[in-house]
Amino acid sequence: MNANGQLDLADPGLLRSQCLIDGEWIDARSAETLAVCDPSNGATIARVTNASQIEAGVAIDAAEAAFATWHHADPSERSRILRAWGELVEEHREDLASLLVTEQGKPMNEARGEIDYARGFIDWFAEEARRIYGDVIPTAPGRRLFVEKHPIGVVAAITPWNFPAAMITRKVAAAIAAGCTVVLKPSELTPLTALALGELAVRAELPSGVLNIVTGMPEAIGAKLTSDPRVRKLTFTGSTKVGKLLAEQCAPTLKRLSLELGGNAPFLIFEDADIEPAIDAVMQSKFRNTGQTCVCANRIYVHDAIHDEFLKGLCAKVESLRIGSGFDERSTQGPLINKAAVEKASRLVEDALRNGASIAFQHDCSPLKNSGTWFPPTIVTGAHEEMAIAKEEIFGPVAVLYRFSDDATAIESANGSASGLASYVATRSPARMLTLASQLEFGMIGINTGQISDPIAPFGGIKESGYGREGSKYGIEEYLDLRTVAIAGLPLPTKLGDDQDCVSALVNHGTTRRG
Ligand code: SIN
Repeated sequence: MNANGQLDLADPGLLRSQCLIDGEWIDARSAETLAVCDPSNGATIARVTNASQIEAGVAIDAAEAAFATWHHADPSERSRILRAWGELVEEHREDLASLLVTEQGKPMNEARGEIDYARGFIDWFAEEARRIYGDVIPTAPGRRLFVEKHPIGVVAAITPWNFPAAMITRKVAAAIAAGCTVVLKPSELTPLTALALGELAVRAELPSGVLNIVTGMPEAIGAKLTSDPRVRKLTFTGSTKVGKLLAEQCAPTLKRLSLELGGNAPFLIFEDADIEPAIDAVMQSKFRNTGQTCVCANRIYVHDAIHDEFLKGLCAKVESLRIGSGFDERSTQGPLINKAAVEKASRLVEDALRNGASIAFQHDCSPLKNSGTWFPPTIVTGAHEEMAIAKEEIFGPVAVLYRFSDDATAIESANGSASGLASYVATRSPARMLTLASQLEFGMIGINTGQISDPIAPFGGIKESGYGREGSKYGIEEYLDLRTVAIAGLPLPTKLGDDQDCVSALVNHGTTRRG
């Protein structure tokens, strides 16, 4: 930001405000726009197109038309374009990070980390584009049985505000690598990063219509994306409530779905844990993005024998956090995304206190309170499972401690949630590590670490945290259909030397058996 509070990018061409459809930047037919705000001070940073069902429909037209050629593009070409996109993301890292700080609020260091994470997905799927292998299944003589993988078609991607870059590339790079085309609807709270990524995709010479970006309010655009039969797949990251609604809306056209929904991650700290590293892991998981991740430790279970020592160390670490604008390089905690997020965190803490919990430590955010949407990093102790704070995702910088005294109860408590995204454990015992790896009912388990996310590892949940996996070798499968090809009546090789004839016959689709 410059001294006038305006976005000051090294490459001002990255600041886009219109929708990207079929390679063109366009306004809504209604000419409506919506404000994008800086959560650290509430100021309007920019206005972007408020698209409707009309623009969503035009974007689907473009994606459908582009699919006809992108589907058949040489995988090496898809890979080359993705690599070029990744290189541009790297080249514009600082500008992209500044956009993230401005519209999302995360501290600059984390913003740079998110851009690297986002690029990691592009690079990963640039490689995977060339590794979409099928299978040959052994079968009877004179028959061949193949499994081919084909891109699903037009994909709608609806992405959240908490990782405005990485949640886009995790979906879009995989879809594009697979040969699909995309209509992306980024969060209305953080569209600027999405549009900058779109601008870089255009510069990387991604053919028109392969990536279309429609900005605006979710209801109208979502209704079109979920009901149009030409959209064959919906990928969504966001709340469980909205995920269920989207699944319902997709049911009449039976779209494939990937849903990365809410979590309620437990973090179990056993009596044999190394306390300092366990505290670091909790800090890493709980306070990343000011507590606004689906994989944040939401329930921290600490063994009685080490509870007080752990709490003392955690208080010291939380006290050392620095709250402030993400543009201040010393800040480690930014604002929450909006007023509703602050109200939710406040409601959950107040409910816990009313029901017998206490605050062990809380930062003083009062100097910041007059502007922006801040919530003080807080440690709550004495919580129990009947409290709302144990059942809902806090999505804020509140570390809530529960006590336990035996493994079986801890595992039962950890699993006692409808969510099943991430979980964490701190222990030195290899036996415990293996037991927990098999008994915790979650899509991801971090043992002695607060960080699982990595482009090379599958990310996703079970139970009400959704289904489908992103990143890793599994991520591309979400955008591919299997096609079984059974060929009968092929010539049988009878003796050495006949094989070549058989191959020619197969290539020429010959079906006559040689005599
Ligand atoms: C999320 O919060 O949805 C994603 C977090 C991550 O990728 O680590």
